[in-house]
Amino acid sequence: MADEPLVLGIETSCDETGVGVVRGTTLLADAVASSVDEHARFGGVVPEVASRAHLEAMVPTIDRALKEAGVSARDLDGIAVTAGPGLAGALLVGVSAAKAYAYALGKPLYGVNHLASHICVDQLEHGALPEPTMALLVSGGHSSLLLSSDITSDVRPMGATIDDAAGEAFDKIARVLNLGFPGGPVIDRYAREGDPGAIAFPRGLTGPRDPAYDFSFSGLKTAVARWIEARRAAGEEVPVRDVAASFQEAVVDVLTRKAVRACKDEGVDHLMIGGGVAANSRLRALAQERCEAAGIRLRVPRPKLCTDNGAMVAALGAEMVARNRPASDWDLSADSSLPVTDPHVPGTAHTHDHDHVHETAGENLYS
Ligand code: KG4
Ligand code: ZN
Repeated sequence: MADEPLVLGIETSCDETGVGVVRGTTLLADAVASSVDEHARFGGVVPEVASRAHLEAMVPTIDRALKEAGVSARDLDGIAVTAGPGLAGALLVGVSAAKAYAYALGKPLYGVNHLASHICVDQLEHGALPEPTMALLVSGGHSSLLLSSDITSDVRPMGATIDDAAGEAFDKIARVLNLGFPGGPVIDRYAREGDPGAIAFPRGLTGPRDPAYDFSFSGLKTAVARWIEARRAAGEEVPVRDVAASFQEAVVDVLTRKAVRACKDEGVDHLMIGGGVAANSRLRALAQERCEAAGIRLRVPRPKLCTDNGAMVAALGAEMVARNRPASDWDLSADSSLPVTDPHVPGTAHTHDHDHVHETAGENLYS
Protein backbone atom coordinates (compact mmCIF):
# COMPACT_ATOMS: atom_id res chain seq x y z
CA MET A 1 0.00 0.00 0.00
CA ALA A 2 1.38 3.34 -1.04
CA ASP A 3 0.29 5.10 2.15
CA GLU A 4 2.37 2.87 4.39
CA PRO A 5 5.54 4.55 5.64
CA LEU A 6 8.59 4.29 3.42
CA VAL A 7 11.69 4.10 5.60
CA LEU A 8 15.39 3.61 5.01
CA GLY A 9 17.31 1.86 7.78
CA ILE A 10 21.02 1.91 8.50
CA GLU A 11 22.74 -0.75 10.60
CA THR A 12 26.41 -0.52 11.61
CA SER A 13 26.55 -2.00 15.11
CA CYS A 14 29.09 -4.68 14.25
CA ASP A 15 30.81 -5.74 11.03
CA GLU A 16 28.01 -5.46 8.48
CA THR A 17 27.10 -2.19 6.83
CA GLY A 18 23.42 -2.83 6.27
CA VAL A 19 21.01 -0.54 4.47
CA GLY A 20 17.41 -1.59 3.99
CA VAL A 21 14.34 0.04 2.52
CA VAL A 22 10.92 -0.96 3.78
CA ARG A 23 7.38 0.15 3.06
CA GLY A 24 5.28 -0.73 6.09
CA THR A 25 5.97 -4.42 6.53
CA THR A 26 7.10 -4.96 2.95
CA LEU A 27 10.79 -5.37 2.22
CA LEU A 28 11.92 -3.37 -0.81
CA ALA A 29 15.69 -3.61 -0.51
CA ASP A 30 18.29 -5.17 1.75
CA ALA A 31 21.83 -4.15 0.82
CA VAL A 32 24.69 -5.43 2.95
CA ALA A 33 28.43 -4.86 2.71
CA SER A 34 30.28 -7.10 5.13
CA SER A 35 33.82 -6.66 6.41
CA VAL A 36 33.81 -10.23 7.80
CA ASP A 37 36.69 -11.28 5.52
CA GLU A 38 38.85 -8.49 6.90
CA HIS A 39 38.35 -9.82 10.43
CA ALA A 40 38.72 -13.53 9.64
CA ARG A 41 42.46 -13.64 10.22
CA PHE A 42 41.97 -12.16 13.70
CA GLY A 43 39.33 -14.74 14.67
CA GLY A 44 36.90 -12.03 15.72
CA VAL A 45 35.67 -8.56 14.85
CA VAL A 46 38.27 -5.79 15.19
CA PRO A 47 36.37 -2.56 16.05
CA GLU A 48 38.68 -0.13 14.21
CA VAL A 49 38.66 -2.25 11.08
CA ALA A 50 34.86 -2.39 11.22
CA SER A 51 34.49 1.38 11.63
CA ARG A 52 36.75 2.10 8.68
CA ALA A 53 34.91 -0.43 6.52
CA HIS A 54 31.54 1.15 7.43
CA LEU A 55 32.84 4.55 6.41
CA GLU A 56 33.94 3.27 3.03
CA ALA A 57 30.81 1.23 2.38
CA MET A 58 28.18 3.67 3.63
CA VAL A 59 27.37 5.88 0.65
CA PRO A 60 27.64 3.13 -2.00
CA THR A 61 25.44 0.84 0.12
CA ILE A 62 22.79 3.53 0.60
CA ASP A 63 22.81 4.21 -3.16
CA ARG A 64 22.53 0.50 -3.88
CA ALA A 65 19.58 0.05 -1.49
CA LEU A 66 17.64 2.98 -2.96
CA LYS A 67 18.28 1.73 -6.46
CA GLU A 68 17.25 -1.83 -5.56
CA ALA A 69 14.06 -0.49 -3.93
CA GLY A 70 13.34 1.66 -6.96
CA VAL A 71 12.58 4.69 -4.81
CA SER A 72 13.97 8.18 -4.54
CA ALA A 73 15.42 9.38 -1.24
CA ARG A 74 13.01 12.30 -1.48
CA ASP A 75 10.05 9.92 -1.11
CA LEU A 76 11.21 8.54 2.23
CA ASP A 77 9.07 9.14 5.31
CA GLY A 78 11.97 8.68 7.66
CA ILE A 79 15.50 7.47 8.19
CA ALA A 80 16.12 4.95 10.94
CA VAL A 81 19.48 3.99 12.35
CA THR A 82 20.82 1.63 15.00
CA ALA A 83 21.70 3.87 17.96
CA GLY A 84 22.90 0.91 20.08
CA PRO A 85 23.88 -1.44 21.52
CA GLY A 86 27.02 -2.33 19.58
CA LEU A 87 30.58 -1.23 18.92
CA ALA A 88 30.81 2.49 19.74
CA GLY A 89 32.93 3.54 16.77
CA ALA A 90 30.95 1.42 14.33
CA LEU A 91 27.61 2.78 15.59
CA LEU A 92 28.93 6.32 15.29
CA VAL A 93 29.49 5.94 11.55
CA GLY A 94 25.88 4.85 11.02
CA VAL A 95 24.39 7.50 13.30
CA SER A 96 26.44 10.25 11.63
CA ALA A 97 25.43 9.10 8.17
CA ALA A 98 21.76 8.83 9.13
CA LYS A 99 21.80 12.32 10.61
CA ALA A 100 23.48 13.78 7.55
CA TYR A 101 20.98 12.19 5.15
CA ALA A 102 17.96 12.98 7.33
CA TYR A 103 19.02 16.58 7.79
CA ALA A 104 19.91 17.14 4.16
CA LEU A 105 16.70 15.52 2.93
CA GLY A 106 14.47 17.09 5.58
CA LYS A 107 13.31 13.72 6.93
CA PRO A 108 12.66 12.62 10.51
CA LEU A 109 15.42 10.60 12.14
CA TYR A 110 14.71 7.53 14.26
CA GLY A 111 17.47 6.14 16.46
CA VAL A 112 16.42 2.56 17.20
CA ASN A 113 17.55 -0.33 19.35
CA HIS A 114 19.47 -3.13 17.63
CA LEU A 115 17.77 -5.89 19.63
CA ALA A 116 14.26 -4.57 19.07
CA SER A 117 15.12 -4.41 15.35
CA HIS A 118 16.14 -8.08 15.37
CA ILE A 119 12.62 -8.86 16.63
CA CYS A 120 10.74 -6.43 14.39
CA VAL A 121 12.35 -7.75 11.20
CA ASP A 122 10.06 -10.76 11.37
CA GLN A 123 7.20 -8.50 10.28
CA LEU A 124 8.82 -8.47 6.84
CA GLU A 125 8.55 -12.24 6.68
CA HIS A 126 5.44 -13.19 8.64
CA GLY A 127 3.42 -9.98 8.91
CA ALA A 128 2.49 -7.98 12.00
CA LEU A 129 4.09 -9.24 15.21
CA PRO A 130 1.60 -10.85 17.58
CA GLU A 131 1.32 -8.95 20.84
CA PRO A 132 2.75 -10.20 23.06
CA THR A 133 5.63 -12.06 21.45
CA MET A 134 8.46 -13.84 23.23
CA ALA A 135 11.76 -13.40 21.41
CA LEU A 136 14.91 -15.47 21.67
CA LEU A 137 17.77 -13.41 20.24
CA VAL A 138 20.95 -15.34 19.70
CA SER A 139 23.97 -13.96 17.88
CA GLY A 140 27.68 -13.39 18.23
CA GLY A 141 27.06 -10.46 20.53
CA HIS A 142 23.89 -11.29 22.41
CA SER A 143 21.77 -14.11 23.82
CA SER A 144 18.57 -12.82 25.34
CA LEU A 145 15.02 -13.76 26.02
CA LEU A 146 12.76 -10.76 25.59
CA LEU A 147 9.05 -10.26 25.97
CA SER A 148 7.43 -7.54 23.91
CA SER A 149 3.84 -6.35 23.92
CA ASP A 150 4.61 -3.49 21.51
CA ILE A 151 7.91 -3.50 19.68
CA THR A 152 8.05 0.32 19.53
CA SER A 153 7.60 0.90 23.23
CA ASP A 154 7.69 -2.18 25.41
CA VAL A 155 10.50 -4.72 25.40
CA ARG A 156 11.05 -6.52 28.69
CA PRO A 157 14.21 -8.52 29.35
CA MET A 158 13.40 -11.97 30.73
CA GLY A 159 16.90 -13.39 30.74
CA ALA A 160 20.30 -13.15 29.09
CA THR A 161 23.66 -14.84 28.99
CA ILE A 162 25.79 -14.30 32.06
CA ASP A 163 28.99 -14.91 30.09
CA ASP A 164 29.45 -15.79 26.40
CA ALA A 165 26.85 -15.20 23.72
CA ALA A 166 25.64 -18.34 21.94
CA GLY A 167 27.29 -17.34 18.64
CA GLU A 168 30.50 -16.56 20.47
CA ALA A 169 30.53 -20.13 21.81
CA PHE A 170 30.10 -21.46 18.25
CA ASP A 171 32.95 -19.23 17.08
CA LYS A 172 35.27 -20.29 19.91
CA ILE A 173 34.64 -24.02 19.49
CA ALA A 174 35.17 -23.69 15.74
CA ARG A 175 38.52 -22.11 16.49
CA VAL A 176 39.50 -24.96 18.80
CA LEU A 177 38.53 -27.38 16.02
CA ASN A 178 40.47 -25.28 13.45
CA LEU A 179 37.35 -24.76 11.37
CA GLY A 180 37.73 -21.01 10.79
CA PHE A 181 35.59 -17.94 11.48
CA PRO A 182 32.67 -17.40 11.77
CA GLY A 183 32.16 -20.76 13.42
CA GLY A 184 28.38 -21.14 13.43
CA PRO A 185 27.75 -22.10 9.80
CA VAL A 186 30.65 -24.56 9.63
CA ILE A 187 29.75 -26.27 12.93
CA ASP A 188 26.18 -26.50 11.69
CA ARG A 189 27.45 -28.24 8.55
CA TYR A 190 29.74 -30.71 10.33
CA ALA A 191 27.08 -31.43 12.95
CA ARG A 192 24.70 -32.72 10.28
CA GLU A 193 26.99 -35.70 9.80
CA GLY A 194 27.69 -36.22 13.49
CA ASP A 195 25.92 -37.86 16.42
CA PRO A 196 24.42 -35.27 18.81
CA GLY A 197 24.33 -37.92 21.55
CA ALA A 198 27.96 -39.02 21.12
CA ILE A 199 29.34 -36.88 23.97
CA ALA A 200 27.35 -35.65 26.98
CA PHE A 201 28.41 -32.01 27.25
CA PRO A 202 27.04 -29.91 30.16
CA ARG A 203 23.85 -27.82 29.92
CA GLY A 204 24.61 -24.52 31.67
CA LEU A 205 22.26 -23.03 34.29
CA THR A 206 19.70 -25.82 34.10
CA GLY A 207 19.79 -26.85 37.75
CA PRO A 208 16.69 -26.43 39.95
CA ARG A 209 18.17 -23.41 41.75
CA ASP A 210 19.54 -21.72 38.63
CA PRO A 211 17.86 -18.66 37.14
CA ALA A 212 15.15 -19.98 34.82
CA TYR A 213 15.79 -17.76 31.81
CA ASP A 214 19.48 -16.87 31.97
CA PHE A 215 22.10 -18.64 29.89
CA SER A 216 25.72 -19.60 30.40
CA PHE A 217 27.95 -21.04 27.70
CA SER A 218 31.40 -20.58 29.13
CA GLY A 219 31.34 -23.85 31.13
CA LEU A 220 30.25 -25.71 28.02
CA LYS A 221 32.99 -24.08 25.98
CA THR A 222 35.62 -25.12 28.53
CA ALA A 223 34.23 -28.66 28.72
CA VAL A 224 34.39 -29.07 24.94
CA ALA A 225 37.89 -27.60 24.74
CA ARG A 226 39.11 -29.93 27.53
CA TRP A 227 37.54 -32.94 25.86
CA ILE A 228 39.30 -32.12 22.60
CA GLU A 229 42.63 -31.46 24.36
CA ALA A 230 42.44 -34.81 26.15
CA ARG A 231 41.97 -36.60 22.82
CA ARG A 232 44.85 -34.77 21.24
CA ALA A 233 47.11 -35.38 24.26
CA ALA A 234 46.36 -39.11 23.97
CA GLY A 235 47.31 -38.97 20.30
CA GLU A 236 43.79 -39.88 19.27
CA GLU A 237 41.93 -38.39 16.37
CA VAL A 238 39.24 -35.85 17.26
CA PRO A 239 35.84 -36.89 15.89
CA VAL A 240 35.04 -33.41 14.60
CA ARG A 241 31.52 -34.22 13.41
CA ASP A 242 30.48 -35.81 16.69
CA VAL A 243 32.02 -33.00 18.74
CA ALA A 244 30.27 -30.41 16.57
CA ALA A 245 26.92 -32.21 16.83
CA SER A 246 27.18 -32.82 20.58
CA PHE A 247 28.27 -29.26 21.32
CA GLN A 248 25.54 -27.80 19.11
CA GLU A 249 22.95 -30.01 20.78
CA ALA A 250 23.97 -28.74 24.22
CA VAL A 251 23.53 -25.12 23.07
CA VAL A 252 20.21 -25.50 21.27
CA ASP A 253 18.76 -27.80 23.93
CA VAL A 254 19.19 -25.10 26.58
CA LEU A 255 18.07 -22.26 24.30
CA THR A 256 14.85 -23.94 23.24
CA ARG A 257 14.07 -25.39 26.65
CA LYS A 258 14.30 -21.99 28.35
CA ALA A 259 12.47 -20.13 25.58
CA VAL A 260 9.54 -22.55 25.67
CA ARG A 261 9.45 -22.44 29.44
CA ALA A 262 9.34 -18.62 29.39
CA CYS A 263 6.42 -18.73 26.95
CA LYS A 264 4.53 -21.20 29.14
CA ASP A 265 5.22 -19.29 32.36
CA GLU A 266 4.07 -16.00 30.84
CA GLY A 267 1.16 -17.48 28.90
CA VAL A 268 2.63 -16.28 25.59
CA ASP A 269 1.79 -18.40 22.55
CA HIS A 270 4.18 -16.89 19.98
CA LEU A 271 7.94 -17.34 19.98
CA MET A 272 10.22 -15.62 17.50
CA ILE A 273 13.88 -16.48 17.14
CA GLY A 274 16.32 -13.98 15.67
CA GLY A 275 20.02 -13.14 15.47
CA GLY A 276 22.72 -14.92 13.48
CA VAL A 277 22.45 -18.19 15.41
CA ALA A 278 18.78 -18.44 14.37
CA ALA A 279 20.21 -19.61 11.04
CA ASN A 280 21.24 -22.82 12.81
CA SER A 281 19.38 -25.74 11.29
CA ARG A 282 19.23 -27.80 14.47
CA LEU A 283 18.01 -24.82 16.53
CA ARG A 284 15.20 -24.32 14.03
CA ALA A 285 14.23 -27.98 14.02
CA LEU A 286 14.30 -28.47 17.79
CA ALA A 287 12.46 -25.19 18.42
CA GLN A 288 9.78 -26.27 15.96
CA GLU A 289 9.44 -29.64 17.65
CA ARG A 290 9.23 -28.22 21.18
CA CYS A 291 6.92 -25.34 20.24
CA GLU A 292 4.53 -27.72 18.52
CA ALA A 293 4.45 -29.94 21.59
CA ALA A 294 3.68 -26.90 23.77
CA GLY A 295 1.10 -25.33 21.46
CA ILE A 296 3.32 -22.34 20.68
CA ARG A 297 3.53 -20.76 17.22
CA LEU A 298 7.13 -20.38 16.11
CA ARG A 299 8.28 -17.51 13.88
CA VAL A 300 11.82 -17.52 12.52
CA PRO A 301 12.75 -15.14 9.71
CA ARG A 302 14.84 -16.45 6.82
CA PRO A 303 18.59 -16.52 7.62
CA LYS A 304 19.45 -13.34 5.70
CA LEU A 305 17.02 -11.39 7.88
CA CYS A 306 18.31 -13.07 11.07
CA THR A 307 21.88 -11.85 10.73
CA ASP A 308 22.57 -8.13 11.10
CA ASN A 309 21.03 -6.15 8.25
CA GLY A 310 19.58 -2.77 7.43
CA ALA A 311 16.09 -4.07 6.65
CA MET A 312 15.49 -4.82 10.32
CA VAL A 313 16.27 -1.23 11.24
CA ALA A 314 14.00 0.03 8.47
CA ALA A 315 11.26 -2.35 9.66
CA LEU A 316 11.37 -0.93 13.19
CA GLY A 317 11.61 2.62 11.83
CA ALA A 318 8.51 2.04 9.71
CA GLU A 319 6.68 0.75 12.76
CA MET A 320 7.74 3.88 14.69
CA VAL A 321 6.32 6.07 11.92
CA ALA A 322 3.15 3.97 11.66
CA ARG A 323 2.56 4.31 15.40
CA ASN A 324 3.39 8.02 15.46
CA ARG A 325 6.32 7.58 17.79
CA PRO A 326 8.37 10.75 18.28
CA ALA A 327 11.45 11.12 16.10
CA SER A 328 14.91 11.47 17.61
CA ASP A 329 16.61 14.79 18.16
CA TRP A 330 19.52 15.90 16.01
CA ASP A 331 21.84 15.38 18.97
CA LEU A 332 21.05 11.65 18.93
CA SER A 333 24.19 9.83 19.98
CA ALA A 334 25.44 6.31 19.53
CA ASP A 335 25.05 4.40 22.80
CA SER A 336 27.13 1.23 22.86
CA SER A 337 25.16 -0.09 25.85
CA LEU A 338 21.67 1.17 24.98
CA PRO A 339 19.29 -0.83 27.21
CA VAL A 340 16.84 -3.13 25.47
CA THR A 341 14.05 -1.47 27.44
CA ASP A 342 14.52 1.52 25.10
CA PRO A 343 13.28 0.30 21.70
CA HIS A 344 14.09 3.72 20.32
CA VAL A 345 15.66 7.00 21.34
CA PRO A 346 12.95 9.63 21.17
CA GLY A 347 13.71 13.32 21.06
CA THR A 348 13.50 15.00 24.43
CA ALA A 349 11.46 17.90 23.13
CA HIS A 350 9.08 15.66 21.15
CA THR A 351 8.66 18.56 18.75
CA HIS A 352 10.82 17.54 15.89
CA ASP A 353 10.20 20.26 13.34
CA HIS A 354 11.12 18.41 10.19
CA ASP A 355 9.13 20.84 8.15
CA HIS A 356 11.59 23.53 8.98
CA VAL A 357 14.62 21.55 8.02
CA HIS A 358 16.02 22.62 4.68
CA GLU A 359 13.62 20.80 2.42
CA THR A 360 15.48 21.83 -0.67
CA ALA A 361 18.90 20.63 0.38
CA GLY A 362 18.04 17.04 -0.43
CA GLU A 363 16.70 17.86 -3.86
CA ASN A 364 20.25 18.45 -4.97
CA LEU A 365 21.47 15.20 -3.44
CA TYR A 366 18.98 12.89 -5.11
CA SER A 367 17.11 14.47 -7.92
O1 KG4 B 1 23.53 -11.57 14.17
P1 KG4 B 1 24.91 -11.77 13.67
O2 KG4 B 1 25.15 -11.70 12.19
O3 KG4 B 1 25.90 -10.71 14.27
C1 KG4 B 1 25.97 -10.41 15.61
O4 KG4 B 1 26.74 -11.10 16.29
O5 KG4 B 1 25.26 -9.46 16.05
O6 KG4 B 1 25.41 -13.17 14.25
C2 KG4 B 1 26.67 -13.72 13.95
C3 KG4 B 1 26.84 -14.96 14.78
C4 KG4 B 1 28.24 -15.56 14.69
O7 KG4 B 1 28.67 -15.88 16.00
C5 KG4 B 1 28.02 -16.83 13.88
O8 KG4 B 1 28.93 -17.87 14.20
C6 KG4 B 1 26.61 -17.20 14.26
O9 KG4 B 1 25.92 -15.97 14.34
N1 KG4 B 1 25.97 -18.07 13.26
C7 KG4 B 1 25.57 -19.33 13.50
C8 KG4 B 1 25.08 -19.85 12.27
N2 KG4 B 1 25.20 -18.87 11.32
C9 KG4 B 1 25.74 -17.78 11.95
N3 KG4 B 1 25.59 -20.05 14.63
C10 KG4 B 1 25.13 -21.31 14.56
N4 KG4 B 1 24.66 -21.88 13.43
C11 KG4 B 1 24.62 -21.20 12.27
N5 KG4 B 1 24.16 -21.79 11.15
ZN1 ZN C 1 22.72 -8.46 15.93
